[in-house]
Amino acid sequence: MTDFITKQRRTHNCGELRVSNVGQTVVLMGWAHRRRDHGGVIFVDLRDREGLTQIVFNPEVAPEAHRKAHSIRSEYVLAVRGTLKRRLEGMTNPSLPTGEVELMVEELEILNESKTPPFVLDTEADISESIRLKYRYLDLRREQLQRNLVLRSKVAEAARNYLSGAGFLEVETPFLTKSTPEGARDFLVPSRINPGMFYALPQSPQLFKQLLMISGFDRYYQIVKCFRDEDLRADRQPEFTQIDIEMSFVTEEDVLGVMEGLMAEIFKKGLDIDITTPFPRLTWEDAVERYGRDNPDIRFDLELRDITDIAAGCGFKVFAETAAAGGIVKAMKVENGKRLSRKDLDELPGYVSEFGAKGLAWARVNEGDWTSPIYKFLDPRDVTAINKKLEANPGDLILFAADTPSVVNEALGNLRMRLAQRLGLIEPGNYSFVWITDFPMFEYSEAEGRLVALHHPFTSPLPEDIPLVDKDPAKVRARAYDLVLNGSEIGGGSIRIHRSDVQKKVFSTLKIGDDEARSKFGFLLDALEYGAPPHGGIAFGLDRIIMLMARAESIRDVIAFPKTQKGTCLLTDAPSPATPEQLMELSLKVVKG
Ligand code: AMO
Ligand code: AMP
Repeated sequence: MTDFITKQRRTHNCGELRVSNVGQTVVLMGWAHRRRDHGGVIFVDLRDREGLTQIVFNPEVAPEAHRKAHSIRSEYVLAVRGTLKRRLEGMTNPSLPTGEVELMVEELEILNESKTPPFVLDTEADISESIRLKYRYLDLRREQLQRNLVLRSKVAEAARNYLSGAGFLEVETPFLTKSTPEGARDFLVPSRINPGMFYALPQSPQLFKQLLMISGFDRYYQIVKCFRDEDLRADRQPEFTQIDIEMSFVTEEDVLGVMEGLMAEIFKKGLDIDITTPFPRLTWEDAVERYGRDNPDIRFDLELRDITDIAAGCGFKVFAETAAAGGIVKAMKVENGKRLSRKDLDELPGYVSEFGAKGLAWARVNEGDWTSPIYKFLDPRDVTAINKKLEANPGDLILFAADTPSVVNEALGNLRMRLAQRLGLIEPGNYSFVWITDFPMFEYSEAEGRLVALHHPFTSPLPEDIPLVDKDPAKVRARAYDLVLNGSEIGGGSIRIHRSDVQKKVFSTLKIGDDEARSKFGFLLDALEYGAPPHGGIAFGLDRIIMLMARAESIRDVIAFPKTQKGTCLLTDAPSPATPEQLMELSLKVVKG
C-alpha cells in the first residue's frame, strides 16, 4: 500500500463534482484517460466508473506533483488531492457533466503504471472484436460497455425487488443435473466418481421449478444461467441468463398481468421509460398470417394479406399453380410506393431468394390499372379484388410471393423488416411489446421424422384440445405464450400439465416411449402423482432484454465475458484440451473426428 492510499480516502468519484463543490478539498482516484500539455500546465482527464474529471497540474501551484505528472501515460492509475476550481470562461466542456469544474492538483501519487493499451479506449473507433475480446478487461473500461453493465445490474436489481415484493421466493436449482429439453443440445459434464456417467448442464430450470410448485413454494423466481449447445447468432450465447419464474394456482391472465408489471418496472428503473400496459396480444395464427412470423415487430404496418383465394383462379400461372399445389400467395402493401425505385425493386428478388423464394412480383397501383410485370396476365376483376383486399390506393406498391407457406412467410416476414429499415419506418427508442398466444402444441420435425413439442413437452394443451392430443395432434393448441419486443422473442412460458395422465399422453404423442419417459422424466411423472397444483410460468432472456434496452448490436456487448460465435472465450482460451491425467481420472478417451 502506498502512503497516499493509507492516509487519504476518496472524497468523490470522477462523475459527481459540480460548481457547488468549488472551493472544496477533493481526493479522487482513477485512470488517466487522456493527457494534454499546454504551455507548461498538464491536463489529465481522470476516469472512473462514474465519469471523467479534468485534473490540472500547474508548476506554480504544486511543483512536485507537476514534475511527477510528466510521466503519466494513458491508463496509469492515479490518486490526487487538490482544490476544486471553476473552469475559466471559454474553457468549459458542456458535453461533460463535470465540464464546468477542474481539480487543481496539490498532491499526486501514481498508484500503478500501465503498458500502452492495444487499442484506444476513448473513442468509438472501429476496433476488431477479437482484439476487444482478448483484452476484455480493457474493453470493459470503455464507456459504452460500462453503461451496458450498469444497466444490466439495475435491471436485475429492479426485477429482484419487484418479484420479491410480489411474493416470489428466490430458490437456486442445480447446474449438475439431468437433461432438461428446450430444443438444444446439452453440455455434458463427466462424473469422476461415477465413471462413464454424465451430468447435463440445465438448458433451463424448467423441471425443478415445476417440482418447487409441487413442493408448495407457490411463487418462485431465479436469475439464473442456462446452457445450450446450439449454433450461435447475434442474439444467442451458449450460456445466457434467464429471469425464470413459476407460479401456482394461476391462469394465463395471472401470469401475463404480473409479467407486464415486471416489464414496466424494469423499464422505469433501467431507462426511466413509462411503458403502457396491458400489452396487445396476437394469437400465433394471426401473427404468422399478418406478419409472416411469430416474433413480429409491430412498430410499423406493412402487414401481409393472404390472396390465395384470388390467386387460385387468376391468369398468372405461377400464382394459380402454386395455389393448386397447396401453396399460398401473400401480398404486402407499401404506401407511397415511389419511395422504392425500379432499381430497389430489382434488388428485392435477390434478397428474398435467401429465404428460398423463387421470385417477387410487384405492382404499382395507378388510377384504374397497375404498372406491373404481371398485369397483362390478370383479369381486371382480380386486380380490383387484390386492391380491395389490400386496401390499396393509387401510389401504393404491392409485393407478392407465391410458394409453400413457410417460404412465403419467411420471405415476406424478413422483407417486411428490411423495408421498414430501408424506409425509416422504425423510430429509435420506441418499445413495442406484444404477447403471442395459442401456439400449436406440436410441430413436425423433418430432421427427426416425428412430432416435437413447439414449446416444451410440459406445456398444457388448451383444455378443449386435450381429446385431440392422440387423435389429431396437429390441431392441438398449447397454453403457451411468448413475449416479443420490437421483433425479438424476449420471453416464453406456459401453463403446465399438472396431471400425470395428460403428461403421459403428450409423451406418447411425441413418441417418447414409457421406458424413455421413465428414464428421462420419471421423477416428474412421480411428482405429478403427489398433489401437483395447477401452475404456470415464464422465463425471460435477460441478455436479450438488456441488448434491446441498451440498443446494442450484439448480445456480446451486454455480457461481461461473452463467448465468440464459435463458442470460445478469447480471453481465457476456453475451451482447451484436458491433460491425459484428467482424462484418465474421468475415464474418458478423446477420439479425434
Ligand atoms: P425458452 O426456451 O423460450 O423457454 O427460453 C426463454 C427465453 O430465453 C432466451 N434465450 C436465449 N437467450 C440467449 N441465448 C440463448 N441461447 C437463448 N435461448 C433462449 C429467449 C427466450 O425467450 N423453460 C422455458 C420457460 C418456461 O416455459 O417457463 C424456457 O426456457 O429470450
Ligand atoms: P416471369 O413471368 O417468370 O418473368 O415472372 C413475372 C414476375 O413474377 C417477376 O416479377 C417474378 O419475380 C415474379 N415471380 C416469379 N415467381 C414468383 C413467385 N413464386 N412468387 C412471386 N412472384 C414470382
